[in-house]
Amino acid sequence: MAKSTRRQQLEAVALYPVDWLEERSGLVGYTKWFLFRKVPHDISWAQTLGAATLTAFIVQAVTGVVLAFYYKPDPASAYASVQNITEEVTLGWLVRGMHKWGASVFIILMFFHMARTFLFGAYKYPRELNWIIGVLLLALGMLEGFTGYLLPWDNTAYWATVVGINLNATAPFAGPFLAQFLQGGLDIGPDTLAKFYALHMLLIPGAIMALIGLHLYLVVRLGVTSPPWSSSSAGRPRPETDGSRQGLIREPGTPASDGGQE
Ligand code: HEM
Repeated sequence: MAKSTRRQQLEAVALYPVDWLEERSGLVGYTKWFLFRKVPHDISWAQTLGAATLTAFIVQAVTGVVLAFYYKPDPASAYASVQNITEEVTLGWLVRGMHKWGASVFIILMFFHMARTFLFGAYKYPRELNWIIGVLLLALGMLEGFTGYLLPWDNTAYWATVVGINLNATAPFAGPFLAQFLQGGLDIGPDTLAKFYALHMLLIPGAIMALIGLHLYLVVRLGVTSPPWSSSSAGRPRPETDGSRQGLIREPGTPASDGGQE
């Protein structure tokens, strides 16, 4: 059925900003490339663990920004500012609780996601680089947890950091330098808190965001792997190719397909 003139006019008005943006940036095309892609027909809930990890990270970023509005990173007022968030700020207890427990959720999900990619053999060619990026994300995620733990500046935070830094100090060669770098001096004190705050708020989250961007770019470029038991997973003959490996290796520039993707 032909569209009415009124509807055509409405569509043109609605699409004008999209066309404007596309013509000047190509962003709409990139978004479509990112979102509308082929995935294997037999993917399952296991493949949602990466997206779940991403969601947990976004929750951490958003709640972290809210906490930063009220947190004071100096030893004289850090503890009191955290008490203020928990007891006085509207819904502060909820935001702090989400950030605190969300940190564990984020780390646990990362381990589950890593276990999934390992068990599905998704670390193998051509996804080795994405595995390496994942390992860096895991290390940075744990460092984010370690630096955040000191910020409430209570006894648990202080002594846990003493133990953590002393453990680092026992590493061969680099250990003592690393410990002194983290402490920002000879003891754990105001400089340590300032350094941990900067690492926790700026450097580590920035690096995690950049690496997540790269990680997702590679996921889209290489496609998602089928489960190892799938009739269409890499290394198994495609039914229609009569046992030959033809078609399993992609020519550069051709769209991602894991053999048998739908
Ligand atoms: C901030 C942490 C991370 C985020 C947000 C993240 C996100 C994702 C997403 C959304 C996918 C695609 C969907 C899926 O396969 O679940 C993916 C795939 C992948 N991730 Fe992660 N990931 C993270 C950490 C890791 C870690 C720690 C590893 C391993 C050391 C890893 C290795 C991989 C690999 C190899 C793939 C490709 C899987 C495939 O093609 O089937 N990722 N990641």
